[in-house]
Amino acid sequence: MVKDIKKIVLSYSGGLDTSIILKWLQETYQCEVVTFTADLGQGEELEPARKKAEMLGIKDIRIVDVREEFVRDFVFPMFRANTVYEGQYLLGSSIARPLIAKHLVRIAQEVGADAISHGATGKGNDQVRFELTVNALDPSIKVIAPWREWEILSRTQLIDYAERNQIPVPTDKRGEAPFSIDANLLHTSSEGRVLEDPAEIAPDYVYQRTVDPVDAPNLPETITIGFEKGDAVSLDGVRLSPAVLLMKLNELGGKHGVGRLDLVENRFLGMKSRGVYETPGGTILLAAHRGIESITLDRGAAHLKDEIMPHYAELIYNGFWYAPEREMLQALIDRSQTHVEGEVTVRLYKGSASIIARTSPTSLYSMDLVTFEEGSGNYDHHDAEGFIKLNGLRLKTLAARSRRLGV
Ligand code: ARG
Repeated sequence: MVKDIKKIVLSYSGGLDTSIILKWLQETYQCEVVTFTADLGQGEELEPARKKAEMLGIKDIRIVDVREEFVRDFVFPMFRANTVYEGQYLLGSSIARPLIAKHLVRIAQEVGADAISHGATGKGNDQVRFELTVNALDPSIKVIAPWREWEILSRTQLIDYAERNQIPVPTDKRGEAPFSIDANLLHTSSEGRVLEDPAEIAPDYVYQRTVDPVDAPNLPETITIGFEKGDAVSLDGVRLSPAVLLMKLNELGGKHGVGRLDLVENRFLGMKSRGVYETPGGTILLAAHRGIESITLDRGAAHLKDEIMPHYAELIYNGFWYAPEREMLQALIDRSQTHVEGEVTVRLYKGSASIIARTSPTSLYSMDLVTFEEGSGNYDHHDAEGFIKLNGLRLKTLAARSRRLGV
């Protein structure tokens, strides 16, 4: 443990765990602690966090609304790649970590702190994401991860510590918390405790921001999303900022039960874990983005994007947002989005978000080429004959050999 620390910036949610961490840092390091609380659209009041920090003797309290930055500079760039981890996870927690860590580093530099601290536990991906970001942005800053350092090993010991230090423990926190939650504008993720056994069906109360598709409205709702350079810019013809747009999509998706996911994933640290994710707006956005790309991207470009996507997703999942290879892939992805513009119509209905129409001024779709009716002559049917012949040549050769060998 590094003891000669003069000032620490703590990522502070105002919750019980980080309040205890705050106290523990003050006691252990006997130095000033600055708190940073990010408004990521987690849907919680943040003023209580200020009050609590004040109560714990903090002089420098930073509460920053990072919602627009989060969606514009992190969520949207990621969505340009249609990013999903292991085929399904939309990376709602993963993509928020580099942003939080970036601000921790910025504040540490501003106030001359020599360390930052976070409340991520010792088994999860989040500690890796925070710390790799700090390494990338300012290697001179030390990282204090109390969950890996202190002697508190259980929830009971945590509550004891709080009581000994006059940190108020809400009554619902006295028992075991039923599961761990991480929420922001992109998603709510729930894991641990009642969710740990993947054979057990997740109880209904786990879901926080989507209705059960069974209880969703019986009538579908149709919306139109506008895109420019691969980013969503409008909803039903009204231009909206990135965060406001995602907020509205979350409301719509939540109401129609869109974006629930119960997943067993492979953590970077080696174990499998089961999580329940709700990403209502993101699920709509992913479908819509694929919809607009389907008419504006060339096949070669589209397929290359799809090839690199799992690698790009893994980099984000593993905490390498600020690694050169992520930035290189981003450059490639961004370059592909130059003409990704137009409008997509999406129908929301009982858990699904289906694309039902798409239009673009930069469309590559050619009715003339594809039509079953007579086209203008840009396509000669006889060419298809030679095309198939040449492509079939090696298959014919292989088949002939098989016949010769009798296999
Ligand atoms: N497993 C997810 C990830 O690594 C979520 C982690 C945070 N979630 C939580 N409920 N604490 O991205």
